Amino acid sequence: MERYAVVTGASNGIGMELARILSARGYALILAARRRDRLEALARELPTPAIPVAADLTDPAQRRRLLEVMDGVNVEVFINNAGFGDCGKFWETSPEKEQRMIDLNVSALHSLTKEVLRRFLARNSGFLLNVASSAGLLPAGPYMATYYATKAYVTSLTLAIHRELKEAGSAVYVGALCPGPVDTGFNAVANVEFALPGISARRCAACAVTQMFRRKVLIVPTLPMKAAIALSRFLPRSALVAISARQQKKKFYRKRAGKP
Ligand SMILES: NC(=O)c1ccc[n+]([C@@H]2O[C@H](COP(=O)([O-])OP(=O)(O)OC[C@H]3O[C@@H](n4cnc5c(N)ncnc54)[C@H](OP(=O)(O)O)[C@@H]3O)[C@@H](O)[C@H]2O)c1
Repeated sequence: MERYAVVTGASNGIGMELARILSARGYALILAARRRDRLEALARELPTPAIPVAADLTDPAQRRRLLEVMDGVNVEVFINNAGFGDCGKFWETSPEKEQRMIDLNVSALHSLTKEVLRRFLARNSGFLLNVASSAGLLPAGPYMATYYATKAYVTSLTLAIHRELKEAGSAVYVGALCPGPVDTGFNAVANVEFALPGISARRCAACAVTQMFRRKVLIVPTLPMKAAIALSRFLPRSALVAISARQQKKKFYRKRAGKP
């Protein structure tokens, strides 16, 4: 029976590369995102069968449609990757855009995680990877306050489920991918420019897939980011928030005024 991997947010960036890598490993794919034409183009390119599912995952009815497609096949891997950010002072950013961000990064990921885990637990196997961010390992991110908060939700939820699965003696894997900057469509949507050089989506996805199959619970793709996260444990939370503010402001100004 064909083994399937599901990737949300597969129409661009990290998700598209995750799909390519999993296909090269022999998985058939279910590709979910809103832009149907991009999903169909990717499906044609992949060496294994692929089912494009055009869906806005903030809509519960469209999430249900994705789950129905999954129920017809043997899904072994599910990656909750769709997500986006926004930048600016909290009182100035768009409440509508932030609500969509919470609906996607938190609510959609939360409900898909529960639905998929129940299916995986019923047969005691499966890999579920939630794409968080290095932002989710830090206490807060001024000027990207909502984005950091959504990603903190993802790491917290994932770590808790990982522990529950361990205590239940389950063979089901759950983990969180926590990359630093990756060159994708993220910046254009979040209206920022990275203050640090980004890695390629290909490199990020390759590391994610390797570490997921090694069952690593928190996956941080690069050494400098791993070192920064390790170092952060020795700093007071207030200092970390101040450092995050400085970094986010740089992104913000680079985009708006070309300032360093
Ligand atoms: N790039 C980075 O530096 C970075 C760092 C850490 C974590 N991340 C995380 O990595 C994940 C992937 O982001 P990326 O960097 O690859 O950005 P990206 O290139 O902008 O890709 C985002 C993907 O999410 C999909 N998406 C957006 N809204 C959606 C919705 N309502 N329903 C379904 N799909 C939706 C987009 O497809 P459609 O527009 O076709 O719907 C696209 O395929 C996100 O969770 C992001 O927070 C990124």
